[in-house]
Amino acid sequence: MQQKPIVIFDSGVGGLSIYQKVREKLPFLSVIYCSDSEGFPYGPKPENDVVDRTLYCLTRLVANFQPALAIIACNTASTISLPRARQLLDIPIVGVVPAIKPASQTSQKRCIGLLATPGTIARDYTNRLIHEFAGDCEVIQVGSSELVHLAEQHLRGQTINPEDLKKIIEPLFSGNNWPDCVVLGCTHFPLVQELLDSVVPAPVTWIDSGEAIARRVASLLEEHYSHHEGPVEHRFLYTGSDKSVRSLLPALEAMNFSEITCLDNCLTGNAPSG
Ligand code: DGL
Repeated sequence: MQQKPIVIFDSGVGGLSIYQKVREKLPFLSVIYCSDSEGFPYGPKPENDVVDRTLYCLTRLVANFQPALAIIACNTASTISLPRARQLLDIPIVGVVPAIKPASQTSQKRCIGLLATPGTIARDYTNRLIHEFAGDCEVIQVGSSELVHLAEQHLRGQTINPEDLKKIIEPLFSGNNWPDCVVLGCTHFPLVQELLDSVVPAPVTWIDSGEAIARRVASLLEEHYSHHEGPVEHRFLYTGSDKSVRSLLPALEAMNFSEITCLDNCLTGNAPSG
């Protein structure tokens, strides 16, 4: 019997940083990746709009593909959509939220940086995480939508000006206390981690949620997916026009996606007539 796929959802290409870790750990899983390119970017959007888009896309994906589970591979969306998504859908929903706890366990200096979207920085959820797990740390928070766009450009093969990166991270290193750990609290940011690392004024440990999410998925699917059964398929779906996706094709092919198509083309009942 063919195994059910899992769904990985993000506003754009950021969730590919999660996809890479899931693929490394669970190479026998079929994956349906969905980029809500039409709704991108989520970072500056009002909370209700982000929740609506996330639920709209997820309900269609779940109804159409009957996945074993879905990952909301977007901190901006997970920090506000998880309860509603779990209420609405009767499969396990894995959320991606800033890795404050591991950063607090790692920081020697008790000073942590948090790089995320402006939306994630503003969330009560993020403040609660900081309060609960890093209460004894100074947490320097930087919200940047520009870095999200730069990560999208980087994956499209465009050259990123290091000066732009320096400006973005500058507030992390402008006070008396510099962080020794920086949480990449947006799934787009691990895609430019090496570039960020080349412009920091002092060494830092970069912390993201990718490996923890892959472990979580493995433990949730343990019983059902102990061995390989049937063909493995990786599909990349997007919403809206294909214009924004064309320049991504080389990167997506290098990541083993065998099909790259608009979500609408896959939904049952949307087959072209005539
Ligand atoms: N990748 C997303 C996150 O983890 C959000 C990027 C955006 O659409 O602003 O927060």
